[in-house]
Amino acid sequence: MKEKIKIAVIGCGRFSPSFVPLFKAHPFVEKVYVCDEKRERAENFSERFGVDIIDSFEQALESDEINSIAIFTQRFKHGEMVIAALKAGKHVYSAVPCSLSVDEIIEIEKLVRETQLTYSMGETGYYRAAAIFCRREFAKGTFGKFTYAEAHYNHDIRNMERSFRSSGGDEWRKYAGIPPMYYPTHSTAMILSTMPGVYAKKVIALGFSGSPRTDIFGVEGQNLYNNPFSNTTMLLELSNGGIARVSENRCVGWKAPETYISQYYGTDGGYEFSVAHHSLAHWDPERPGKVIMEDVTKELQPKCISDVLYSDYADTIQKIADGADFYDTVPIQPVERLPEEFKGIRNGHNGTHHFLIDDFCRAVETGKLSPTNIWQVARYNIPGLLAHESALQGGVAIDVPDLGEPPEDWEVLWS
Ligand SMILES: NC(=O)c1ccc[n+]([C@@H]2O[C@H](COP(=O)([O-])OP(=O)(O)OC[C@H]3O[C@@H](n4cnc5c(N)ncnc54)[C@H](O)[C@@H]3O)[C@@H](O)[C@H]2O)c1
Repeated sequence: MKEKIKIAVIGCGRFSPSFVPLFKAHPFVEKVYVCDEKRERAENFSERFGVDIIDSFEQALESDEINSIAIFTQRFKHGEMVIAALKAGKHVYSAVPCSLSVDEIIEIEKLVRETQLTYSMGETGYYRAAAIFCRREFAKGTFGKFTYAEAHYNHDIRNMERSFRSSGGDEWRKYAGIPPMYYPTHSTAMILSTMPGVYAKKVIALGFSGSPRTDIFGVEGQNLYNNPFSNTTMLLELSNGGIARVSENRCVGWKAPETYISQYYGTDGGYEFSVAHHSLAHWDPERPGKVIMEDVTKELQPKCISDVLYSDYADTIQKIADGADFYDTVPIQPVERLPEEFKGIRNGHNGTHHFLIDDFCRAVETGKLSPTNIWQVARYNIPGLLAHESALQGGVAIDVPDLGEPPEDWEVLWS
């Protein structure tokens, strides 16, 4: 067995409280430190979770004891902090996105390849029910040849003020105006993770600049990015000839479900989702020209939803819209592989948090790659960064660079 994980969680804001207890409980982790520029936040975490404080990110990098860093800082800081951590010889877990810059993603890939350190991005979309389902059915051949899929991440700015205020204070609007396509990985991961080796070759995008939130989205200094778009939709030409459409909406009359695949079609079958119902269609060998339509909802919804969906539909879809399913796992998720120690610890984002921390810890322990390794993550993240450029230019087509596959002798966990 390798040296156990001694990790510093950088950023004690709103998201990381869901993860410190998981790092602490994981059997491969020996020690957890917390760190925040706002010292009182680290002190609060230290008291709540019974962990020690490390005074600064720089001290964590210099420490001989700490061998891993978990980045939970604001979106625009991830790239440079991940690069610094890898250069300091640390394994890295990073909240999404990977980076806001293509060059930084390229540098992270180069560093991981050279150092063979673990980099794992905590992409909740990877373990959402629909992604697991489409991965499984695509691998079985149910869909035949992939043709087209749509995924969405709807997160209205009305529900994000507290998040951006957390670090942005009264200047929060400048950060909240981040281009929606700078945060594309929840949606892209759901589609691309279903098809091994497939990546985007070309992107075309259009942005919506008519948001009533002119205090946040605009080109007159409302935000740090001079970003006029609250919503952006991109079309991706994929390397297998298929097409994906991804929408990132920050001004939209919708709350939950928030990250989902609405449609996923192949030449022989299709999956569709609408608010509560998950359906699978495939050709019927007995009846030429007709399909068998299966309701696969039970496997893809938590019990708290599927138990009552058919007896009280109106009430249940309201429950979904209110996020009642946020913490629960669903039958299709392989919970049996998780450490016993995670039982009873709060989950989140439709039961995905436990898997993400387990992947990181197992990747460090085994030396294998996490499923959300840098080569996959580059494929999830880079198309969005270029989609924003495309949208700014009125929808011009832009070629998307691909960083290729991981080294052949570096096995991926669970493959
Ligand atoms: N579904 C998801 O995957 C999901 C959901 C929510 C948030 N996130 C990601 O998680 C990250 C954190 O989000 P949040 O809401 O907790 O943000 P936050 O602003 O509440 O917290 C960030 C914290 O990092 C601290 N920080 C910044 N730079 C630092 C440094 N150099 N050293 C030490 N501390 C530093 C800040 O002081 C702050 O407390 C974001 O990048 C976001 O994209 C992902």
